[in-house]
Amino acid sequence: MEIERSKILVTGGGGFVGAPTVRALIAAGAQVRVLDAVRSPRLEGLDCEIVIGDITDAELVGSCCAGVDGVLHLAVLPLTAANTEHEAAFQTNVRGSFNVFRAAGDNAVKRVVYSSASSAYGPTVAVPIREDHPLRPNAFYPATKAAAEMLLRGLAGAYGYSFAILRYMNVYGPGQRAGVVPAVSQRLLAGERPQLSGDGTQGFDFVHIEDCAHANLLALAADVNGEDFNVGHGSVASLNQLVALVGEILGEVVEPTYAGEPVTAPPRVGDVTKPRELLGFEAQVELADGLRSVIVELREAAASGV
Ligand SMILES: NC(=O)c1ccc[n+]([C@@H]2O[C@H](COP(=O)([O-])OP(=O)(O)OC[C@H]3O[C@@H](n4cnc5c(N)ncnc54)[C@H](O)[C@@H]3O)[C@@H](O)[C@H]2O)c1
Repeated sequence: MEIERSKILVTGGGGFVGAPTVRALIAAGAQVRVLDAVRSPRLEGLDCEIVIGDITDAELVGSCCAGVDGVLHLAVLPLTAANTEHEAAFQTNVRGSFNVFRAAGDNAVKRVVYSSASSAYGPTVAVPIREDHPLRPNAFYPATKAAAEMLLRGLAGAYGYSFAILRYMNVYGPGQRAGVVPAVSQRLLAGERPQLSGDGTQGFDFVHIEDCAHANLLALAADVNGEDFNVGHGSVASLNQLVALVGEILGEVVEPTYAGEPVTAPPRVGDVTKPRELLGFEAQVELADGLRSVIVELREAAASGV
């Protein structure tokens, strides 16, 4: 699909990954419509249409899909809330996703890209995780992500539109307030020792939001139908390495504190061969550079009292 001059609906476009995606789409010459439950300061000053509303409102989702060429579906009740508020998570992540995928078909949308999560794989069976790893989620948030993947497959088949599924690995970047990267960074910025679980050797595939935004655009434009893709850096960094890297940026050597049993599960690191070969996607942001962007934003936020 040609992105330049196309009209793209981004659900959850005001979110952490949504906002850089909207910015990248505008830069690529797309006309963007955002559907988000809240008015996000992240979209301030951007030349896009913003519809404030809920993806559980099927009629509204239908009207938002009218006249668009492609849909990027990112709206979500995120992990922590979804793992405990099951009914709300079902309504947004499953029912809402159904509304989006059905409305795409009813409005002859050409291509849909769904932002899923690597947690949909469940406990890691093989490292690195290839896209044909089984989807066996063991908590409710990843179960809703896996369920929505299946709904997209079924509805795209029924309507005949083209689609792609992206499974992001451990996303980080400026503006994030939950998760291990902001937690470690905020402790170090406050001059405190970060608390790590286990012995700090637990590994993650950290991928920067700008790389996720780039992957979203490549998946939208790609001439491949019905495929799922890992979106990751493709390498493992441990919590101890994370602390050392942030310490280096701040010019300090900090010893973390450790609590709890060492985590023995293999890391959830994505095999990135398929996105490289079929989408031309390769993560561009190295962890040290990405962490610098996190520190800069946290310092600015602290200075402005946000
Ligand atoms: N951030 C991560 O670490 C990560 C990792 C893997 C996958 N993902 C996936 O990426 C996508 C984007 O995640 P994010 O980190 O930007 O999340 P986010 O919480 O920052 O943004 C989600 C956006 O969706 C909106 N939203 C929530 N419920 C809505 C509803 N009912 N109707 C309309 N809008 C609603 C929110 O207002 C928010 O702007 C999600 O689908 C998520 O599952 C994220």
